[in-house]
Amino acid sequence: MKVCVIGAGYVGLTSSAVIAELGHEVICVDKDETKINQLNSGLIPIYEPGLSELLNKNAERLSFSIDIEKAIKESSIIMIAVGTPSLPDGSTNLTYIYSVIEDLASSIESYKTIITKSTVPPGTNEMIDSMLSTKIKPSLFNVVSNPEFLREGTAVKDMLFPDKTLIGIKPSDKKSIDIMKKLYQGLEAPFIITTLTGAELTKYASNAFLAMKISFINEIARLCEAYDVDVMDVAKGIGTDPRIGSQFLRAGLGYGGSCFPKDVSSLHHTAQKKKVQTPILEAIQDINRTQVKEYISKLIKLVPELSAQKIAVLGISFKPDTDDIRYSKAIEVIEELAKIGCEIHAYDPIAFLPKGNLGHVIQGKDLDSVIKDAHCLFIATEWTEFSTIDWQKVKGLMSGNIIVDGRNCLNKENLEKMGFYYLGVGRG
Ligand code: NAD
Ligand code: UGA
Repeated sequence: MKVCVIGAGYVGLTSSAVIAELGHEVICVDKDETKINQLNSGLIPIYEPGLSELLNKNAERLSFSIDIEKAIKESSIIMIAVGTPSLPDGSTNLTYIYSVIEDLASSIESYKTIITKSTVPPGTNEMIDSMLSTKIKPSLFNVVSNPEFLREGTAVKDMLFPDKTLIGIKPSDKKSIDIMKKLYQGLEAPFIITTLTGAELTKYASNAFLAMKISFINEIARLCEAYDVDVMDVAKGIGTDPRIGSQFLRAGLGYGGSCFPKDVSSLHHTAQKKKVQTPILEAIQDINRTQVKEYISKLIKLVPELSAQKIAVLGISFKPDTDDIRYSKAIEVIEELAKIGCEIHAYDPIAFLPKGNLGHVIQGKDLDSVIKDAHCLFIATEWTEFSTIDWQKVKGLMSGNIIVDGRNCLNKENLEKMGFYYLGVGRG
């Protein structure tokens, strides 16, 4: 099969590599010429473990282009993987989807299966279908909703070994299921088939549920602090119950990234439009919104003269093993500390601080220079490099002894034995 993937971001590039690995020919297109030039010269514009290897392995079945019209004309399958960011009111910005609809309408001359991988609000695929039907013959295409469930940092593995393939189709569509089965032939995952809107809502419900687990354990962490209990014990205790499950119960600074924040707020917005009350979605966001501030307040209480201190912030990306800084809680930590006027030295193995005025922030090239003379060390992202650090050396480098473990990734007892003051999230 010949597949055109529109969008060369985290999802588009991973999809391109995996679909090529499954034996299909892939043209990955993007409006961003710099990205396409990079890809054509063998450079991968994002950091995603295993992606470069899989792209290289399948190079003979993969090409990259900015010629979207040509790629659409040549392919029988079109996969939409463009961004769907938030608008200021929390709803989804569908500008990039509309632009793809224009490209499809002006290019389609033969039958296409149009697959939406981007996360789009309920009703969007029906809208794509009806907008296209006014511009081209309905017999020339079918729209399929096929939301993606990969996580950054493990995207390749998640896509090669998915727990399901979620497919939404129109009731009248008798062609697409067979085509989707051929496309994903080789992946061992059950097909879950529903309507276009059913698939969209399932994707949002999935992200909202995972975000809910995180906000729930963060709320319990606040209670743990009031009762001098370690939230890690509580998470372990409840997580062994298979009805609850142990994953996504890591208390910390809250969820960030390009997905949970925008998707929970988009679902809330969608519900409001339909006049449906969603107090759980509101509570999930409220807890997440206040989590970083909670720990900055605790730090200020601990060090009243915080503004005069050097603080080392370890981690810039929104989670380990990615360079993505969208809605990163680490950036929020830096912004809050900068507001106070602290001298901030940040370090990340891969990610970079955003351009623009964050305040008095320096990104160091190595851990030692960032930690040297710091009064406090603030772990904002749990890269393995930080949890395996030589703490004796750190002790010698720092001027103070405060460790804020914003991701509960350190051994509290060991650090306390060594003379550090340890502040974790809900750790008694
Ligand atoms: P991204 O921002 O990394 O990449 C999107 C790409 O689309 C960009 O390179 C952009 O230049 C390109 N683009 C935008 N408009 C275009 C157009 N009209 N024609 C061609 N290219 C265009 O985004 P992402 O993180 O890969 O996310 C894409 C979608 O997948 C979003 O809807 C997101 O919610 C969803 N999703 C993301 C993840 C994830 O972990 N990142 C996981 C599951 C689902
Ligand atoms: C998330 C989902 O896990 C994917 O299934 C989904 O496809 C994707 O969103 C999406 O729709 O785009 P991702 O954002 O890449 O994936 O990363 P996660 O591992 O889910 O982490 C999200 C945030 O939650 C991070 O900031 C992480 O630090 C935080 N988190 C995660 C916690 O605070 N505690 C946990 O126990 C787990």
